[in-house]
Amino acid sequence: MAGGVIFTANTKAYPGNLTCKVLVTCLVAACGGLIFGYDIGISGGVTSMAPFLKQFFPDVYKKQSQIIASSNQYCKFNSTTLTMFTSSLYVAALVASVIASFVTKAFGRRSSMIIGGVTFCIGALFNGFAVKLWMLILGRILLGVGIGFANQSVPLYLSEVAPYKYRGACNVLFQLSITVGILVANAVNYGFAQIKGGWGWRLSLGGAIVPAIIFIVGSCTLADTPNSLIQRGKLEDAKRRLLIIRGVDNVDEEFNDLVEATEQSKKIESPWLNLLSRKYRPQMFFAVAIPFFQQLTGMNVFMFYTPVLFKTMGFGDNASLLSALITGSVNMLATIVSILLVDKWGRRFWFLIGGAQMLICQVVITTAVAMKFGLNGNPGELHMWYAVLVVGFICIYIAGFAWSWGPLGWLVPSEIFPLEIRSAAQSVNVSVNMIFTFFIAQIFLQMLCALRFGLFIFFMFWVVVMTIIIYYFLPETKGIPIEEMAGIWREHWYWKRFVMVADEELAQVKDTNKVARV
Ligand code: BGC
Repeated sequence: MAGGVIFTANTKAYPGNLTCKVLVTCLVAACGGLIFGYDIGISGGVTSMAPFLKQFFPDVYKKQSQIIASSNQYCKFNSTTLTMFTSSLYVAALVASVIASFVTKAFGRRSSMIIGGVTFCIGALFNGFAVKLWMLILGRILLGVGIGFANQSVPLYLSEVAPYKYRGACNVLFQLSITVGILVANAVNYGFAQIKGGWGWRLSLGGAIVPAIIFIVGSCTLADTPNSLIQRGKLEDAKRRLLIIRGVDNVDEEFNDLVEATEQSKKIESPWLNLLSRKYRPQMFFAVAIPFFQQLTGMNVFMFYTPVLFKTMGFGDNASLLSALITGSVNMLATIVSILLVDKWGRRFWFLIGGAQMLICQVVITTAVAMKFGLNGNPGELHMWYAVLVVGFICIYIAGFAWSWGPLGWLVPSEIFPLEIRSAAQSVNVSVNMIFTFFIAQIFLQMLCALRFGLFIFFMFWVVVMTIIIYYFLPETKGIPIEEMAGIWREHWYWKRFVMVADEELAQVKDTNKVARV
């Protein structure tokens, strides 16, 4: 029997409701996802706008017009400089998330959120008003820093504020706002691309200040999480805050446990060095594996390049953009399903269902593309039934991601880390996510050109691997208070060996201390 398949930890049941206050708090904090989503959705469209390319990447523009005339459809959008524009942001986000881990710990989750929003806003202004390439690149770096700070702090904020029974739903609001950001950006690109005079790209890029301002204003109205307040010695504030967000008269048990968890966490001097210690092996495994696998589902191929992919398949310009709007809507709607059901059916269920669903769709899409395009990528005439089949299965694939790996990729890491390493471990999660988002954004067009329809086989392989790993190695985390999460590893067939050893060591230290005192 796979470890953790049937699992209920011995947990406490703290009182607490999903109050209006906590819901609004979560909705406001989740707006952090808007800036991330807006950027994911906007860059692909902008880099396909001819006036933008002409002004900043004239060589790419020239090369693209020549290649478009060539016969191999798979290669017509391949350009390293262009993908560099899209992906450079992720490198900045990666570095920023490490810096954010210190800020989040020392000054609270909310401070990181505000810093993230402000930096993103400045980046958007640089991009919107860019007249030179350096302004564009500086803008991208600032956007990346903003995303690094926001993604490091918002998921933690949500998981700490939510009552544990509704933690999944509250945390998935972050993913929902990512998908709203992507969809809005797709629509905005579509509209602004039509503007005469060719300056629509300025509005697309500069428009990023709107989600940034929503996020900044929202974050300023929020109070920090009780966990963070306790960590910073503000016990009374923390208790008051806990009473408000739980909406009950007595939060003593939860409060005392939070204080105890904080005391324990203070004994850890260097969370970064501690990440490598044996007892945190299960958490660190997932801090790396979950974001890695999330990106290796291949989802961002569709997010960044849907219009390009549809054009490659022979769809016209408008049909391609319209299809991108359809896939964006499916992404958002399916995330709502996750909000409603992730606390009911659990994380493992959705991970496994999503994996199977994505795999089936990838098989169908690959077969359809291979049969139609063959090796040289010339589709001939595209029939309606073919277009409907491909777009339909891409939509089912996207729904599969949107109710599984998308939200769970942010939810599960944010709930499994113990307080003492939470901030540092979360930045590992964000960094790995950014590295592989960068990797996919950067090499996808070259891979499409080199592997042709075999590209999807590459992603299929990883979907199989990730589904097997979840089945055997991830215990269920639904309905377990966040500071009680350590228990899930103790009862897991594989991970218990790591945690038990640590427990024994701790007991030995306690015994030695006792003897010394006697
Ligand atoms: C991922 C992004 C992805 C988005 C799509 C997020 O969870 O981290 O890389 O583009 O979902 O909705």
